[in-house]
Amino acid sequence: MAKVKTKWVCQNCGYETAKYIGKCPDCGSWGTLTEEIEEKPANKTQSVVIDDNPVCLINEIKITENIKFSTGFEEFDRVLGGGLVQGSLVLLAGDPGIGKSTLILQSAGNICSQGRKLLYVCAEESSSQVKLRAQRLNVNSNNLYVYSQTNLEAVITQIDNIKPEFLVIDSIQSIYTSNITSSSGSVSQIRECTNFLMDIAKNKNITVIVIGHVTKEGNIAGPKVLEHMVDTVIYFEGDKYKSQRLLRSIKNRFGSTNEIGVFNMAEYGLEEVKNPSELFMKERTDNAAPGSVIIATNEGTRALLVEVQALVGTTSYPSPRRVSTGVEFNRLLQIIAVLEKRIGLNLSKHDVYVNVIGGIEIDEPAADLGIALAIATCFRDVCVDSDCVIIGEISLSGEIRNVSNIEKRIYEAQKLGFKKAIIPKLNKKLPEGFNIEIIQVPRLMDAISACVSKK
Ligand code: TYD
Ligand code: MG
Repeated sequence: MAKVKTKWVCQNCGYETAKYIGKCPDCGSWGTLTEEIEEKPANKTQSVVIDDNPVCLINEIKITENIKFSTGFEEFDRVLGGGLVQGSLVLLAGDPGIGKSTLILQSAGNICSQGRKLLYVCAEESSSQVKLRAQRLNVNSNNLYVYSQTNLEAVITQIDNIKPEFLVIDSIQSIYTSNITSSSGSVSQIRECTNFLMDIAKNKNITVIVIGHVTKEGNIAGPKVLEHMVDTVIYFEGDKYKSQRLLRSIKNRFGSTNEIGVFNMAEYGLEEVKNPSELFMKERTDNAAPGSVIIATNEGTRALLVEVQALVGTTSYPSPRRVSTGVEFNRLLQIIAVLEKRIGLNLSKHDVYVNVIGGIEIDEPAADLGIALAIATCFRDVCVDSDCVIIGEISLSGEIRNVSNIEKRIYEAQKLGFKKAIIPKLNKKLPEGFNIEIIQVPRLMDAISACVSKK
């Protein structure tokens, strides 16, 4: 009997090697390499190349408009770039139990109520479990087909029978193809199945949604290994113990990637949060507190108001701690360096913790000034006025740089009843028609004196 050849594959990033190693040299994760059977490549010498895609001049290519379908959720559609594009493959990834199946089942119900056929392949649950969930979510349609199956070939047979316009695979880690011998959930299986599904999407013009679990242990492959293969990658995030959920697009061939969608997990499924700033402000008391600042950040096409909190205290460690949640770590270090050099805050013996409330990740520099003020006010034990919003990017010299979309941000602040906005002096064109006091500041020092009152 021929010896079975094996290889070691990193379940996190897909790196392959002939021998076992503890740490993946590609992504740096430990203990994620597992042994998989090496599949024999197909006999390439006999294959015939069918060239039905001729080479053409760029001037002669006709643009075909993408047809987009609504998921019935405005928040989901916006993150997708206007809806689900016909014939595309979307990967929805997230931690187990976060609500992926719920979101997709509700969207499936909405799609089917538009008179479109959808095949929901539940590889993890039985059909009756899906039915129970559907009942709870009030999803009911004659166009929604449920198929409890883990074999991809069987799914393809059903696609030919039913001829759906949409296909949902829940989840990619529990489905397998008989073409290869590796177990389901391995990198090889996930890649092969995704290739298969991509083929179905493009050749049969079926819109495919694939659900993928984010895995920490590395015993089953995570969605990272197939991000480059699909058209759109969307992450569903949130704290399992809280009801708020965020949809974030990581890659999108049909739209921008900086949109977020906000949902609330309620008793009967997910509800859209159309005005997220209100939700983020809900837990805030009216009294100002040292280290608490409201910033206006721009997420794709809309502005969001979020609270940034800082805690500064004398350190008991040999080197002070810097901890950030929701703000990039290096950005925090840079802001601390500017505070030390330009306004003389000596933070070298203080721990600094910064937290963005509501699970939002802020990656735009327009939040710099807010973060700096949160740290500075906590250090000096003073407060930023509770009706004041802070907008501005800080340069290394301590000047406040201008930011984009200033009107949208101020409008959002006004809508939520804020009375004052601190904005960069460099934003030359002053927004007009606002019923809110606008203070333009050139430097970090000026911003502090413009919005800080004694506790
Ligand atoms: P689920 O969609 O099964 O998560 P995933 O597919 O990402 O693993 O969601 C499971 C969680 O959602 C579960 O903890 C219960 C909660 N949930 C609600 O709070 N309300 C609901 O109406 C439903 C269907 C689920
Ligand atoms: Mg699920």
